[in-house]
Amino acid sequence: MNIGVIGTGYVGLVQGVILAEFGMNIVCMDISKDKIDMLNRGELPIFEPGLKELLDKNVAANRLRFTTNIKDTINSDVIFIAVGTPPKDDGSANVKYVLDTAKNIATHMDKYKVIVNKSTVPVGTGRQVTGIVQQTLDACGKETDFDVVSNPEFLREDKAVRDCLTPDRIIIGTTSEKARKIMQRVYSVLYLNKTPFLFTNLETAEMIKYASNAFLAVKISFINEMALLAEKTGADIQQIAQAMGMDGRISPKFLHAGPGFGGSCFPKDTRAIVDTARQHGEEMMVIDAAIRANEKQKQKMIHKIRFTLSESGDLSDMTIGILGLSFKPDTDDIRDAPSLDIIGGLVDAGAHIRAYCPEGIEAAKGHLVHIGHVITYAANEYQAAEGADALVLVTEWNQFRGLDLQRIKQNMRGRFFFDLRNVFAGRPELVAEFNYFGVGR
Ligand code: UGA
Repeated sequence: MNIGVIGTGYVGLVQGVILAEFGMNIVCMDISKDKIDMLNRGELPIFEPGLKELLDKNVAANRLRFTTNIKDTINSDVIFIAVGTPPKDDGSANVKYVLDTAKNIATHMDKYKVIVNKSTVPVGTGRQVTGIVQQTLDACGKETDFDVVSNPEFLREDKAVRDCLTPDRIIIGTTSEKARKIMQRVYSVLYLNKTPFLFTNLETAEMIKYASNAFLAVKISFINEMALLAEKTGADIQQIAQAMGMDGRISPKFLHAGPGFGGSCFPKDTRAIVDTARQHGEEMMVIDAAIRANEKQKQKMIHKIRFTLSESGDLSDMTIGILGLSFKPDTDDIRDAPSLDIIGGLVDAGAHIRAYCPEGIEAAKGHLVHIGHVITYAANEYQAAEGADALVLVTEWNQFRGLDLQRIKQNMRGRFFFDLRNVFAGRPELVAEFNYFGVGR
């Protein structure tokens, strides 16, 4: 089957590569010539473990190619829209690129197509896409038939390949029997592998995506709030989470206390569903609280570090080493990363920053230009600790778990160690010589 994928961000690119791996003929299109040139050179515009190998394999097998020309996708039976839906200032999702793409497809198509929406879009967008495609076809005097399907994506950055190869579920939102059958063929490998498929209408599929992300965000804010209380009462959040997770109804996943959730999805999608609800005269009180708790969590981290350090001197004389800038490990994505707020809060108090991240430095530099005069970037974790009065572990990259703490201590000027991911929380013998602070303990 010939499939076009429009948009080569995390979702579109990974989806395109995996569908090629499933034996489909894929053409991935993006308006960014730089990205397409990179991909045609066999280079990835994103850091994603395991993706490069599959990209090379499927390009070599002639199942995967890249283009900047939307007309190259038009011979496809199925076209995925996987373009960005960035937040507007009011928190609502900007679906302009999705609608523009739909119009573009309609302008060029001349036979039946399944137009699949992979982008995360507010409920009701699928209907809008249907309307725009129909209007455009009418305006061109074409009587071409088509169906619009909502097929949300649940991949996580850093585990995107695995999530796409072995998803927990595939959601197909359409009432067209013809489109359902075609989508089953698109995912025939997963269908035969007994991956659960759920067939819904457009609106339900669109809302499943937001409901899932919002629920996970609520779970994180919940445990972070418990962590704040645990810290005040002498309880241990890790044991609380462990015990809660033993209840099958709760599950231990997404119960790790930390500096707050970040990334390109949870912050954006929680705000967007609150906005959608507002437009429909409803108030998402639980999700709204999760968003506010997340903002508070980041501020609490800043406050704890500032307050603790200020007791032993003036922050403007201090250098703080930061370990981890990306919003989570194994990604170079810095969007809405807690590190940005935390660094900002420490710089506001006068501190100098020396930061290290295995993959996030380049992206972070762009976000932190305005404080470029007080931040330096280290080549590794030990350099980040050099002469530092305090070390703050913000993102739990695996390589930090194996830190040589003796070497870190020798490099540092001070002894403060703020472990915002509780990486060393269960190893008091390792951090005995530091003034060690975890989260929720
Ligand atoms: C999230 C969802 O997990 C995916 O299912 C979804 O497809 C994706 O959004 C999306 O909508 O595209 P992602 O943003 O890549 O994936 O990252 P997660 O692993 O979910 O982590 C999000 C944030 O929550 C990170 O900042 C992470 O550090 C934080 N988190 C996660 C915690 O603080 N505690 C936890 O227990 C889990």
